[in-house]
Amino acid sequence: VIVEDYGSSILGRLQSIFKKAIEEAFPGLDVPLLLAETPNPQFGDYQCNSAMPIAAKLKSTGVNKKPGDVGREIHAKLATNIEFIEKITVMPAGFINIFLKTDYLCRQISQLASNGITLPRVVKKRVLVDFSSPNIAKEMHVGHLRSTIIGDSICRLFESVGFDVLRVNHIGDWGTQFGMLIAHLYDRFPNFLNKLPDISDLQAFYKESKKRFDEDEVFKKRAYECVVKLQSHEEEIVKAWNTICDVSKRYNQIVYDHLDIKIKDVGESFYQEKMVDLVKWIKENKPGMLREEEGRQIMFPSGCSVPLTVVKSDGGFTYDTSDLAALKYRMIEEKCDWNIYVVDAGQNLHLETIYAAGRDFGWYDETTQRVEHVGFGLVLGEDGKKFKTRSGETVRLLDLLSEGVKRAADKLKEKGREAVMTEEELNSARDAVAFGCVKYADLSHTRTQDYVFSFDRMLDDRGNTAVYLLYAYARIRSIVRTSGIKNEDLAAYIAKNPSLPLNHPAELKLAKQLLKLADCVLLVLDSLMLHQMCDYVYRLATLFHDFYNECYVIEKKDGESVTVHFHRLALCEVTANVISTCFKILGIREVPKM
Ligand code: ARG
Repeated sequence: VIVEDYGSSILGRLQSIFKKAIEEAFPGLDVPLLLAETPNPQFGDYQCNSAMPIAAKLKSTGVNKKPGDVGREIHAKLATNIEFIEKITVMPAGFINIFLKTDYLCRQISQLASNGITLPRVVKKRVLVDFSSPNIAKEMHVGHLRSTIIGDSICRLFESVGFDVLRVNHIGDWGTQFGMLIAHLYDRFPNFLNKLPDISDLQAFYKESKKRFDEDEVFKKRAYECVVKLQSHEEEIVKAWNTICDVSKRYNQIVYDHLDIKIKDVGESFYQEKMVDLVKWIKENKPGMLREEEGRQIMFPSGCSVPLTVVKSDGGFTYDTSDLAALKYRMIEEKCDWNIYVVDAGQNLHLETIYAAGRDFGWYDETTQRVEHVGFGLVLGEDGKKFKTRSGETVRLLDLLSEGVKRAADKLKEKGREAVMTEEELNSARDAVAFGCVKYADLSHTRTQDYVFSFDRMLDDRGNTAVYLLYAYARIRSIVRTSGIKNEDLAAYIAKNPSLPLNHPAELKLAKQLLKLADCVLLVLDSLMLHQMCDYVYRLATLFHDFYNECYVIEKKDGESVTVHFHRLALCEVTANVISTCFKILGIREVPKM
């Protein structure tokens, strides 16, 4: 991303300041900048550790300089009056320690309290996110659940910085398997034209038709005829196809509604004609790319070891063909700057091969456009094996979510919340906990790794879970709500104090973490690793907890408030708003009361 304004991001601003200083002190040295937070306050808040690698690089070019001298030379190039820096010290080994100015923190927090949370301003991009993307008639499984949750959160992140986001469901709604499904539909639900059939178990329907297809020659022939009729758009057959798609989509929509997911279908069937055009285009514009092998037309994109099958021997198209057509459409017609595929890690080779073809065809430019596979690991059961029901079937997503709702209700009951909350409050807390915990458990694990699905763990109110965060959030909101201070009085206080009197170590620690939201957003925009945001908000909640333990916000005597520390109340307010901003990006529904 190109940053126009770092906002409250200190790391981002430090990075650009240090890059410039290093370039001035040691022009043309290609050494990556090492700049990080320091866990030990003795060494300041941030530390630049570039001196050693620079000294090493210099040595390789025949220049001998001690890291300490390198550090001092970088320091000499830094401006002396950077508004947020108290002091900079250089250690003998060249490490450069950066200490933040307390007054700067106090001003920034006051600003966040009066203007609300603003994220860094970045150059707007047009971004397509291909996510969820289940296959029709095969039920969505936990793999698709991961794609749905991660993809939605990535969209939310992009939307939060003002990108133009296309949320695309590349559903598997086309292909020869529809022949057998349609033929089977005619037999099982002859009345389907008048009434949408109630296929409660589409998976079983799929299996039945597959079985007949494999065992019954007559049925198989009929299935093939259906494919031909579907491809020539015979009206009734198209209706049958639509019927099957509708049943499937209706089911999926319930899942999306539960999870507050918005997404638009642009599935494989969208590319029917475009695949025909694509093959023509390749033959005309890139002759020699396609080669014939056993009746198939295949291609080996540059640097790829496996070929793409563009046309099958029977003249039909494949998953490769539709992905090629989709890539061309997205980059050329839709003019996307970024095209992000949230698909399980198992499809990496397929996607990388498609991207290589796109580059060979000149559909996009790697240096300015981002076409990327955002892969993820498997969901495992508590036994460490692939997630399955007890009888070994794939887990239906709706069953999984219903179980979450039930367990969340039990959890609230166990905590005695029924006594203090209305039924409506309880229900919304229950759903927020149930769906929030499933999402958060997924997002908080390093996306590229497998993770174990465990309701017990995700519903634990200690540790890095949605439940812990939802409680923390509700508690902070209730501090402000029950303080007896009116919003306008707090606002008036903040207006009068453009620099809040923060000085307790716990206040300052919390304030620093609050300002890091901007860094976190920039980091995740680049990495698309949402666990980094989960780690950020979890750390924020624990620092708030420490602050609240050590600092009185409201001092009470005989149950009555005697002293209200307004600046601390403002810290509570900003903390709640930052958590709320993170919840929005992570797709967690916030509840004011838990
Ligand atoms: N429908 C595919 C599956 O379930 C995922 C599609 C992902 N997107 C893509 N453009 N290939 O495996």
